[in-house]
Amino acid sequence: MADYTPLMSAPPDEDEVDSNKPPVQQLSQRYVLLFSLLLALVAIAAAAAFHLSVLSAFYETQHLPRPKDIESSLPVVQPSPNLEKGHAIMKKERFKFPRMVFPMFIVRANAAAPDEIYESGSSVVLSPTDSMIYHWRSNSSWPKCYLTGWVSSSEELRAGRKSYTSKGDVTALEIWNLSTPENHNSLQAMSWNTRPARVSLLGTVNFTSRETQNRLGDLDAQEIKAPTPRFDCLGDTEITVEVVCKVCRLEFEQVFSMPPLGFELMQLA
Ligand SMILES: *[C@@H]1O[C@H](CO)[C@@H](O)[C@H](O)[C@H]1NC(C)=O
Ligand SMILES: *[C@@H]1O[C@H](CO)[C@@H](O)[C@H](O)[C@H]1NC(C)=O
Ligand SMILES: *[C@@H]1O[C@H](CO)[C@@H](O)[C@H](O)[C@H]1NC(C)=O
Repeated sequence: MADYTPLMSAPPDEDEVDSNKPPVQQLSQRYVLLFSLLLALVAIAAAAAFHLSVLSAFYETQHLPRPKDIESSLPVVQPSPNLEKGHAIMKKERFKFPRMVFPMFIVRANAAAPDEIYESGSSVVLSPTDSMIYHWRSNSSWPKCYLTGWVSSSEELRAGRKSYTSKGDVTALEIWNLSTPENHNSLQAMSWNTRPARVSLLGTVNFTSRETQNRLGDLDAQEIKAPTPRFDCLGDTEITVEVVCKVCRLEFEQVFSMPPLGFELMQLA
């Protein structure tokens, strides 16, 4: 019988072999194992203690700031500069970006000409007397939605031959939830007087460059904060809203092409 077996390569039938061994030999094998473990632990502890004492002696003699001090004197990194890196990671991880849904109807309602009937089209006119009625329909497995004003950067807009004119404050346009009529096709044409009733104020949207908004740290993740709340939109969903601008004038064409410019329904996976 061999009286030396390397510890790490004990045969699989060790139990049987062991039971045949005299108890003293089993015991001594256990001691060898315990002793080597103990030795390893002592060595690690000694190395760590030595490392620490050398390091602190080094910092003390050199009058160098400790890593902790350096860390606390660094400016806090804002998330915005890392936005692109974050996007790249999200793409790599197959994160699903919000999906934009183009409106089904875009209709003007003019309080100054309350019986005038406007048809759905691409022309958006907002003023203290002009509202825009938007209607979206979606049927999706993505459960949450929100509404937003989407203004691509000026370079993108120029390249896409899109533009808008604005006067006054366009940073807080009101979005009112309207009752959706039984037959949504009645929304294809309407007047101020025949438009659906307002149900509640959903929130306000900021009709300024998305790029600029993304660059401002304090506006990060603004879409998940009130007053532009998310709502359930799983499956067949319709929503009709009125966009109101009490203190501005805003005009543009909202057409189904890149780059986006207008009021959009965003779906979240
Ligand atoms: C919505 O989509 C589901 C699944 O694709 C489909 O079964 C259903 O008929 C759709 N509903 C409408 C109203 O289009
Ligand atoms: C809008 O109002 C309708 C009718 O009251 C309601 O069913 C719907 O849930 C509301 N939508 C939102 C996003 O609050
Ligand atoms: C709207 O966005 C602009 C940047 O495009 C920002 O300066 C402004 O503070 C924002 N306003 C609100 C109410 O969030």
